[in-house]
Amino acid sequence: MTVARKRKSIVNRGSFRVLGIETSCDETSVAILKISKNSVEILHHEIASQIPVHEIYGGVVPEVAARLHVKETVELLDRAMATHYSLLTTHLPFDVIAVAQGPGLATALRVGIDAARTLAFALEKPIVGVNHLEGHLASAWLVSENRKHWKFPILFLLVSGGHTELVLMKDFCSYRVIGRTRDDAAGEAFDKTGKLIGLSYPAGPQIAKLAENGNPRAFDIPRPMINDPSFDFSFSGLKSAVRRLWEKMPQVVRAKKKTRVDLCASIQEAIVDVLVAKTIAAARKHRPQQLAIVGGVSANHHLQERLRQAVKKELRGVSLLKAARGLHTDNAAMIAAAGAWHFRRGERHDWRKIDAQPEWDL
Ligand code: KG4
Ligand code: ZN
Repeated sequence: MTVARKRKSIVNRGSFRVLGIETSCDETSVAILKISKNSVEILHHEIASQIPVHEIYGGVVPEVAARLHVKETVELLDRAMATHYSLLTTHLPFDVIAVAQGPGLATALRVGIDAARTLAFALEKPIVGVNHLEGHLASAWLVSENRKHWKFPILFLLVSGGHTELVLMKDFCSYRVIGRTRDDAAGEAFDKTGKLIGLSYPAGPQIAKLAENGNPRAFDIPRPMINDPSFDFSFSGLKSAVRRLWEKMPQVVRAKKKTRVDLCASIQEAIVDVLVAKTIAAARKHRPQQLAIVGGVSANHHLQERLRQAVKKELRGVSLLKAARGLHTDNAAMIAAAGAWHFRRGERHDWRKIDAQPEWDL
């Protein structure tokens, strides 16, 4: 049978399994998804986080990340294959490989890509390179309830450690970025201000936890570009304002628990105010059928709740779609899902040529 005929038969079967590989930053992850006409099943999913190691350095060290990815990718792939390989039928547990191609750290991305290329060559399987940002969008599609409401266009607020974008999804694999950050991403705003006040990396979840007991109006933190007519963001001014505030504060005030919780609540409120205002303004202009929030920062409960209330008040008939718990931050299930969208359209990459695209935008 020729390779072309083999490929055709996979899609025609109506169901296929995708092996997803994610190594773009500080999480190594491998997943196997079964995609059928009316269902999506996560058959296998593992995430090996490097955060405990990068925490020591106060941020992600690319060389360290790449070395850890080598070790973890092999272990995770080995386990996925061993768990799902059927000795009786000698069937491989997947039909196609989807790998995060970018954006991300070049050396880290290449670890996943090289693993994917090796498998594609050795096992004669097709390979699809996936945009990591598209993967984040697909994380919302992995929730079956969301798929029932999946009507285009969908406006996504994509908020992660490296990106803050408002994306209009017009169809599967068709996007228009209508706003993006001009400097720091929302996740960076959390991480960098948190670092300033002595929190470890990544500070986002810790700020969210401390903020639960703080007063969000205790400190006057700027809301950059909140009234700007564009849908772009800017968070570096917010970070500088927190630095100035912190440096001016006497040591005895800094040391108080109340200062810290109030400052965390004030930082979170400022970031959330900007994200909610811009998202609602973009939705009013572009009138999407649905709204979705994805990316690491979308795990923030305060952001979820504020956006939910704003959608209910301001956008009639629109529901807010979120990723499932555990799929907000980087993972391979979302990469496999986005890979499936492209594979269904007949897209394939040549394993000899596929390479990292560290600056790839949507
Ligand atoms: O999507 P992600 O895993 O990585 C990138 O693709 O960049 O996002 C990581 C980011 C970090 O900046 C982290 O601080 C932030 O998501 N984050 C949060 C929360 N959980 C993760 N930020 C605020 N509140 C949270 N609960
Ligand atoms: Zn990400």
